[in-house]
Amino acid sequence: MDYRQLIIDSINIDGIDKQDLLALVTAPKDSAMGDLCIPCFKLAKEMKKPPMVIAEEIATSVDKGDMIEQVTAVAGFVNFKFNNVKFAKQVLADVLAKGDDYGKSNEGNGKTICIDYSSVNIAKPFHMGHLLNTALGGAIYRIYSALGYNVVGINHLGDWGTQFGKLIVAYKLWGNKKDINERGVRALVEIYVKFHKEEEKNPSLGDEARAWFKAIENGNKEALELFEYFKEITLKEVNRIYERLHIKFDSYAGESFYNDKMQPVLDELTEKGLLQESEGAKVVKFDDDMSPCLLQRSDGATLYATRDMAAAFYRKNTYDFDKCLYVVAYQQNLHFQQIFRVLEMMGCEWSKDMVHVAHGMVSLESGAMSTREGNVVFLEDVLNSVVAKAKQVIEEKNPDLEDKDKIAEQIGVGATLFGVLYNSRIKDMVFSSDKVLNFEGETGPYVQYTYARCNSLFDKCGEIGEEVDYSGLDNASSKAIVALLDKYPQILQESAKKYEPSVVTRYAIDLAQAFNKFYFECKINTERDGIKNARLLLTKATRQVLGNALALLGIDTPQKM
Ligand code: ARG
Repeated sequence: MDYRQLIIDSINIDGIDKQDLLALVTAPKDSAMGDLCIPCFKLAKEMKKPPMVIAEEIATSVDKGDMIEQVTAVAGFVNFKFNNVKFAKQVLADVLAKGDDYGKSNEGNGKTICIDYSSVNIAKPFHMGHLLNTALGGAIYRIYSALGYNVVGINHLGDWGTQFGKLIVAYKLWGNKKDINERGVRALVEIYVKFHKEEEKNPSLGDEARAWFKAIENGNKEALELFEYFKEITLKEVNRIYERLHIKFDSYAGESFYNDKMQPVLDELTEKGLLQESEGAKVVKFDDDMSPCLLQRSDGATLYATRDMAAAFYRKNTYDFDKCLYVVAYQQNLHFQQIFRVLEMMGCEWSKDMVHVAHGMVSLESGAMSTREGNVVFLEDVLNSVVAKAKQVIEEKNPDLEDKDKIAEQIGVGATLFGVLYNSRIKDMVFSSDKVLNFEGETGPYVQYTYARCNSLFDKCGEIGEEVDYSGLDNASSKAIVALLDKYPQILQESAKKYEPSVVTRYAIDLAQAFNKFYFECKINTERDGIKNARLLLTKATRQVLGNALALLGIDTPQKM
């Protein structure tokens, strides 16, 4: 229930705009004054009355109904106190009736959102840099799905470019299929690095590479087979990681998919007089100081931007999206500004629906847990290392736990996801496995642990009985939880609107902390059944919402920890 709206609806007074009033509603500085209040100072000028008088008038007009217990006008403020017991009863009933659906809505029904995320490069390592991108995209995908949108997850694979010509040459010279099948991308990266070293000594390798790339372009059978093989090796590896991170895509249409879809875009740009010659290349220039968007090189080759132009049209035509999101690091700010501007200049009114959901960089603490291959840290190594540490913690704290490996995986992967999603996405971060695994910190394991603590309470106290005395929740720590539970649907909306899963991670921490405070302050397993049952209902609802929030982030909830 929206308590701000509730108090606005309770007011019966002419001459004040209810929307203006709603904007004024806030929490009182001193919570002893009430749960919410309306400061009337801003109204004074327009109403030509002192704030004290306005506050009195508003307070006397209130129809308290069931939920509002007390209304007072004090020094220009109208203070509202709710009936905590009724409020708690209603919120808990709502959470428990909806269960896994609590927080979901159908506001997005009939609307489609495309999300381009992760978008890895073929034959390149899936490294730490892709972690935030992939975690963010996955969370935004689930958050929009929960709000009823039709979501299309797109992995815009980096599967085009002259590097594939080089890789073919390297493979033919030094490639060992058995080794590549076993070690995957690592083996491919090695021969690719070797190619560059050898090319310095023997420049004719470069010519060979260009010839092989041409062969891919011309559809030569051998070239295409090798190209597909590299793709298959990379995707096998990447999919293994996606599975662990609970990431899904609806489309793997990568850059090569647009090979035959770029010419029509170039033609249209030419027709509209937007494509200009510049030193033999074709560019679109802007009327301000933004650098021109290069769309065709002087040798006729197309570019990353050309493929993104074609992809934008393809997505609009195929999915008729309401929004098309690009979850990509801020390094590519200029690229997306250019693409969106070119679309706008072409008269695509939907260019306004394109959003670059930019994010920061993730780096590792120097030296820590890095199986370094060249300078790259493979994400899979990081995951394995965090999971191994989680296993150690279990061995120390709870050696008799069943399914230790499975739970270590849930904790380690959960810690990693939660850790990178905890700050606003635009911030750069230094990833520390000790920090994300800290069971007492603002971490995934802390939330998972709180979830498991709720479970163990049910093991201890048994089923919740029929008789419920909600006065057992008439205390500060219970009230805080109820208010948070009530707020969860708004949290989802806010995080969707801002494309910011950190709104959800931060909320999960707030709720977990509120629950742990309650756990220490209120005896749950009391002799008085009614009170105990009320507190168990609160525990059950908390567990539900913690689980719902973690699910949105792609994080599992071990039943025991
Ligand atoms: N593969 C690119 C990279 O690793 C990211 C692609 C992002 N998506 C896009 N439509 N440009 O930098």
